Parts: sequence; structure tokens; C-alpha cells
Amino acid sequence: MTMKETIDEIRNQLDFEITKVNSLPELDQFRIKYLARKGIIAELFETLKNVPPDQKPSLGKELNELRTHAQNLHDEKKNNLESNQSSQSELIDITLPGRRKWIGSLHPITQTLNEIKSIFLRLGFEIASGPEIEDDYYNFEALNFPPDHPARDMQDTFFISKKTLLRTHTSPVQIRVMEKQQPPVRVIMPGRVYRNEAISARSYCLFHQVEGLYVDTNVTFSELKGTLVAFAQQFYGSDLKFRFRPSFFPFTEPSAEMDISCFLCKGKGCRVCKYAGWLEILGCGMVNPNVYKFVNYDPMKVSGYAFGMGIERITMLRYGIDDIRILFDNDVRFLKQF
Ligand code: DAH
Repeated sequence: MTMKETIDEIRNQLDFEITKVNSLPELDQFRIKYLARKGIIAELFETLKNVPPDQKPSLGKELNELRTHAQNLHDEKKNNLESNQSSQSELIDITLPGRRKWIGSLHPITQTLNEIKSIFLRLGFEIASGPEIEDDYYNFEALNFPPDHPARDMQDTFFISKKTLLRTHTSPVQIRVMEKQQPPVRVIMPGRVYRNEAISARSYCLFHQVEGLYVDTNVTFSELKGTLVAFAQQFYGSDLKFRFRPSFFPFTEPSAEMDISCFLCKGKGCRVCKYAGWLEILGCGMVNPNVYKFVNYDPMKVSGYAFGMGIERITMLRYGIDDIRILFDNDVRFLKQF
């Protein structure tokens, strides 16, 4: 075999053997066999001394190329093996803690609203909504507020102009629904309301209410009580006690406020109920006949009841939140607890 043939054969051998190398110790064997000081390629350089002088330059060049080729194969394989080793060890590091995926949650106000909605939907109510920017007419006048009623005072209402304002309650939606629809009307009207009050732990410039309205023939106060008690028992639990206290709202007559026994102390008295044993949860009453005149209902033919409740208050009581502002901060440390 000529020297040239030997070189070619060894090149083929290198190309084949490198494919068999699967670990760093095997690669070291490869290096010792071909590239070490007493390796095959070094031996070939030795024999170069014995070839005729006219062949030396070209064979020398071939041999150099063979050595470079072997070195390249070796280095490339080394890189591969080392990077594989590190990615493999990452794959099998079972001591790493799992990565938890963050799943968003519904805001506590949304959760409370959803629950209230689903209870009233089951009781046969539909859902309606109205604008947050309202006319004085819907927010006050058609709800039977006299022109000089203190609730119209600049203190409570954000006026946009003389006749336009941010609604201070969801009751104007009652008027909008009755304008469009003849009895029987049975709706709840959730939404945001605004009040120009000093911001504190107990009051904020905006909050949520759910309004309720049922108008039909022969609707009675006992139906109002029955519906609200059914709601409260589903929402707060069936073991609670409740009571209705007389109250006043321009758009209902008679009017009442509903209290439930404090679900924290069960009526014994605690910080949450301010040692009263009772918590006020909503205002309600029979729709004032004056209101029907504004929507062209005949007060002699129809009767109905209405109620309204604040959602922040209910939510705060439920979760033991003592500052209303935290509900509007959108601080993830707070929100992710729900
Ligand atoms: N709109 C009243 C408020 O914001 C709450 C209210 C009381 C609504 C009695 C009603 C009701 O529908 O009948 O304080």
C-alpha cells in the first residue's frame, strides 16, 4: 500500500470511528489512538522521513490535512458531548421545584356580583343595565325626589352640568326599564355608582349596587319580604335571622331596611356589627305610586316592590376587609388571595 493510500484509508477510518464515539472517555480513546504523540498520525509523520524527496512536499501536505481533519472531528464531538451532557443533566434534575403557572382570578366584587345575579336569575329575575352618566330626571326627579331634596346637594353628587351627573345609585335604571317595558317587570340592575364624598376606609367615590324591581298586578309587601329572605338565606346561609326596620326613600312607600343577624358573632355582638348583633344589608319598599306616573303605568292597576344593596359593603363583611379602598387598588398581592 502506498503512503497516499494509507492516508486515505485512515481518513475513512476516522470518519467512521468518530460516529461510534458516545462519551468523553471514548473520545479520549479516539484522541490517544490518532492524535497523541505516539498515535497513528504521528507514526505516519515518522515514516515520511523514508519517502523519496520529490514526494515529500505533497505527502506532507496530505498528512497535515489528515491531522487537522482528525483534530476537527475530535473538537466537534467534544463540543457536542459537553453541551449534551449539560442539557441532559438539566432535564433530569428532579430536585428542581416545579414551576407554578399563575392563573388569574375574578375580583372579589365580581365574584359577589356573579353570585347575587345567579340567585336572582333562579328566582325568575332578568338583568338590565343603564348609563352611568345620567340626567337629573332619571337620577332624582322621576324617582320622586322633591326639587330641594338634600341628596341633590353638590356634596353627594358629581354634576357634569346643571342637568347631567354621574348616577348616585342604580335606581334610575328602574325608570329606564319601566319606560320601555309594560308589567310584569322583574329585573335586577347591577352597576357602578358615584358619590362625591370624602374618601376614607368606609367610603369611596365609586362603588357598586344591585337594584331590584318587580312590578305586576297585586304584588304585596309579603312577596318582597319572601323574596329578600330567600335571597339572604342562599347568600349568607340558612341559619341567619333577619328583620325589617321602617325607613324612608322617596321612591318607595312604605320603605324598609333589611338587617341580618351578624354572621360572625351570630348576633352576640362583635367588632364587625359594632356590638349590635345586626348588619344592615339593603334598602327596599313598595314602589311609590308617584313613580308610576312618570312611566305611564296606572297606579290603580299595578303594584310592585324595589330594593337596592351595596356590593362593597357585603363583600367586605364576607371577607373581613376593613378598608374599602383596597378593593380599587388592583394590588395583585390582595387580588391573588381570591
Ligand atoms: N337607591 C338607594 C340608595 O342608593 C337604595 C335603595 C333603597 C334602592 C330602597 C331601592 C329601594 O330600590 O327600594 O341608597
